[in-house]
Amino acid sequence: MLEVKNIRVSYRRVPALQDISFSLKQGEVVSIVGGNGNGKSTALRAIAGLNPLDGGSVVFKGEDLSGIPAHQRVRRGLVLVPEGRRLFPRLSVEQNLRLGAFTCDKQQDIRDGLDFAYQTFPVLFERRHQQAGTLSGGEQQMLAICRGLMSKPELLMLDEPSWGVAPKLVTRILDTIRAVAQRGITILLVEQNVHRALEIADRAYVIQTGRIVMQGSGRDLLANDQIRQAYLGI
Ligand SMILES: Nc1ncnc2c1ncn2[C@@H]1O[C@H](COP(=O)(O)OP(=O)(O)O)[C@@H](O)[C@H]1O
Ligand SMILES: [Mg+2]
Repeated sequence: MLEVKNIRVSYRRVPALQDISFSLKQGEVVSIVGGNGNGKSTALRAIAGLNPLDGGSVVFKGEDLSGIPAHQRVRRGLVLVPEGRRLFPRLSVEQNLRLGAFTCDKQQDIRDGLDFAYQTFPVLFERRHQQAGTLSGGEQQMLAICRGLMSKPELLMLDEPSWGVAPKLVTRILDTIRAVAQRGITILLVEQNVHRALEIADRAYVIQTGRIVMQGSGRDLLANDQIRQAYLGI
């Protein structure tokens, strides 16, 4: 479904991604893990069309995306829930959700999206008229994920969904990501929380200073000695 081939990205000539390749099949949950500053967000932003490529290509559902702007990628089913959530804090929960549906032309799709959000997270229903900025970190993350789902993605990319979320809610959010995958939506997850990210992934890639240094099934990487020492403190 997604084929990232030898992409390179730099910020003011300083390379952030050096020749990165990876792929996702329809229905998979794939994680990219690695410490802070190693290029995880840069990779997602490049796929979403928010960072220009210095080289390489991104092919989504068989189509080369070069030259296709970010909003057109959303229309094609490629959606990013960005790092730090980027909600509109002064707008209500429901207004934020509706803004996520800017690519939807059908009222029914919008109603379905709201139903999914409110059934999955009843707290969002209770607070639907409240300003998004008044929600807790975990609730805001729920809202950000549901806003991403409003545009009916085929591939949902999540950048650090456990960021700023209380530990007891992290499990809840990761369970929801699994539930989203079970609805047939392919997931590309980026996380610093290596243990959690490997637990829920079918496959994972380890990124270090802008390069993929290891890949494998989530289970194999969890059991890998190098990973355990470097990222899990075991
Ligand atoms: N807007 C930016 N301008 C300049 N450098 C940046 C910018 N965003 C990220 N970088 C640099 O690119 C590298 C990768 O960053 P990032 O993709 O955010 O890493 P991660 O998401 O893994 O923490 C880091 O060295 C970071 O300092
Ligand atoms: Mg990041």
